[in-house]
Amino acid sequence: MSNILYLECVTCGKRYAPSKIDYTCPACGDIEGTLEVVYDHERIKRDFTKETLKGSRVYSHWRYLPILPVDRPELIPPLRVGFTPLYHAVKLGKELGLSDLYLKDEGLNPSASMKDRASSVFVVKALEKGATSVTAASTGNAASSLAAFAAPAGLETNIFVPETAPRAKVAQLLVYGANVIMVKGTYDQAFNLCREAAETWRWYCRNTAINPYLAEGKKTAALEICEQLNWDAPDRVFVSVGDGCVISGLWKGFRDFYELGFIDKLPQMVGVQAEGAAPLVKAFNENKRLTESIIPDTIADSISVGTPRDQVKALKAVRESHGAMVPVSDDEILDAIKEIAQGSGVFGEPAGVASYAGLKKMTAQGLIDSNEKIVVMITGNGLKDIDSAMKSTTAKPIIVEPDMKSLENQI
Ligand SMILES: Cc1ncc(COP(=O)(O)O)c(C=O)c1O
Ligand SMILES: [Zn+2]
Repeated sequence: MSNILYLECVTCGKRYAPSKIDYTCPACGDIEGTLEVVYDHERIKRDFTKETLKGSRVYSHWRYLPILPVDRPELIPPLRVGFTPLYHAVKLGKELGLSDLYLKDEGLNPSASMKDRASSVFVVKALEKGATSVTAASTGNAASSLAAFAAPAGLETNIFVPETAPRAKVAQLLVYGANVIMVKGTYDQAFNLCREAAETWRWYCRNTAINPYLAEGKKTAALEICEQLNWDAPDRVFVSVGDGCVISGLWKGFRDFYELGFIDKLPQMVGVQAEGAAPLVKAFNENKRLTESIIPDTIADSISVGTPRDQVKALKAVRESHGAMVPVSDDEILDAIKEIAQGSGVFGEPAGVASYAGLKKMTAQGLIDSNEKIVVMITGNGLKDIDSAMKSTTAKPIIVEPDMKSLENQI
């Protein structure tokens, strides 16, 4: 059995037994009633320590099993998730005047985004609950990730994506054998349709934020960061934000390790949104508890969200950690793709690198000390969206005849 004590509503504080509830607090509804998984830290501490971790030969995020919501470990899927590199980005850091800049390359997960951390946990929960069909609405990454984990687990997968989803993500879905429903509308509309379909046909639903176990998967990136930095937690963590589940998941991870005594300080969480999809930036600046819905418009499809589903937890994460919310333009995002690639070798998709654009902006505003320990989450691989990658550079290949004369003329 897992070490969960209960699931707690972020708004009213009501506690639920995990066996009694699948999604959100009925009294508070989907947006305000997201649930947080609370563990028995005292019990976990007894045989889960920094020392036991040091000796662990599990080279994936399952090395943190005692603090994950798994009742039946035998159902853990074989695909390797997590244990992604944390690069000390020396050259890139120099360009910004920062001595201690790190990039967490989440694009190296099996389906090439950080969503695999959540999907792997979700699939275990689906199997534990005896589900045979699962569903998700997604801008693309959560869906392709779910498809990657659900197919080998024998789960029928029904996916809702906006028809504007990048082709690479749709290709992943089709290759993994998911039933793909393309919605003529926004991601937010696809989300609502999926939620209704899940209720109607009793498909177990991986929609972000409403399923309390997803943040538990995402938090493992924070646990890895602590371990990779030898238990010296970063000063600030930069994260691209759409629905807000990644940032709140990471914050949960840092808090779990802080409460277990593994780290002795908590980082500031900095959320970065595209200017055309920045309801959380606005709510944060206006000191509101909830966002106003907008029609999003940004090249960064994965964070093109008008109604952030994990808004309560996300705003809490930024406020509790004394962090910030930063808007960046699409041009700044495109520049970030190229700058990170050339400065570190890591290739990120637009939403994967908006985080870095936020860091660059805050650095230019003089808000970051040169010796701060900074982690930038690169949440998705650049190959996910080649069209945007091509827009990030004006460089063109040289075309030559297959002979030296032609080459000499061109070079
Ligand atoms: C690559 C990438 N980065 C960032 C995010 C933002 O995560 P969240 O919607 O949980 O804020 C997503 C979500 O789809 C994503 O795919
Ligand atoms: Zn509630």
